[in-house]
Amino acid sequence: MRLFEALVPLKNHLALQKHTTLGLVPTMGALHNGHLALVERAVNQNDLVVVTIFVNPTQFDNANDLNAYPKTLDQDLEKLSLFGEKVVVYAPEVEDLYPETTKSEVYDFGELEKTMEGGSRKGHFQGVATIVEKLLRSFMPTKAYFGEKDYQQLAIIHALVKQKELPIQIVNCPIIREADGLAMSSRNTRLTPKQRAIAPQVYQALLQAKEKKGRFSIEEIIDEARHFFHQSPDFELDYFCIADATSLQPLYGKKIEQEARAFIAVKLGEIRLIDNVKF
Ligand code: PAF
Repeated sequence: MRLFEALVPLKNHLALQKHTTLGLVPTMGALHNGHLALVERAVNQNDLVVVTIFVNPTQFDNANDLNAYPKTLDQDLEKLSLFGEKVVVYAPEVEDLYPETTKSEVYDFGELEKTMEGGSRKGHFQGVATIVEKLLRSFMPTKAYFGEKDYQQLAIIHALVKQKELPIQIVNCPIIREADGLAMSSRNTRLTPKQRAIAPQVYQALLQAKEKKGRFSIEEIIDEARHFFHQSPDFELDYFCIADATSLQPLYGKKIEQEARAFIAVKLGEIRLIDNVKF
């Protein structure tokens, strides 16, 4: 495994490596088993794999959140070294990816970016699309791998690739969970032991909602979830939403005919957790 901090030498290196397929795994580091599952899949499906480690400033609407984002480069490199020669790591400073100004490009994703994370985190998806487009154009991989925990992000990335006509396959990878059901996330390391003990209730709320499908209306199911989190002083519910799995627009009523997903975002102290399940 080789590490590069600058794009130009990395691209020169890739040009010299014999390969017909290239996988790209964009990450913000603080790697956990969810990331490693993406890398493993990419390694199995491609001759070469670029893993990027970059905490992208333009997708944060809150400076404290950006500064507190965990950075564990040495441990990340140790984990990635287990994948051997096929993996190349790109871990740049901000200037390498934003040489002129640290600003997002402007995209129009319509309704897709107005709900849920897009509604709660101003400019978040403009920042995600900016960095993902930069990375996709820099490497022009055969396939790029993203986790379904950030399901709305995945929908935005599919829309981006379509709008920009990029000939790259976006591979959706399933959520990897801890034994108690908590979706793996780099932010979990910032939970206190008490918060970590109750964090699996986020996934449980999604499962309870799913279990009520068809017997109760979506409005009733959401009310119950709201009530549950309202009662618990440790949690601050941002949204609980049941939406069409493709358009991500909220659904109502009892009879759901299309493919749907249940989504949740809560704050546990300072830490924002998101999760989703097929509904
Ligand atoms: O999901 C993430 O870790 C980030 O949003 C991504 C896709 C690496 C872009 O910074």
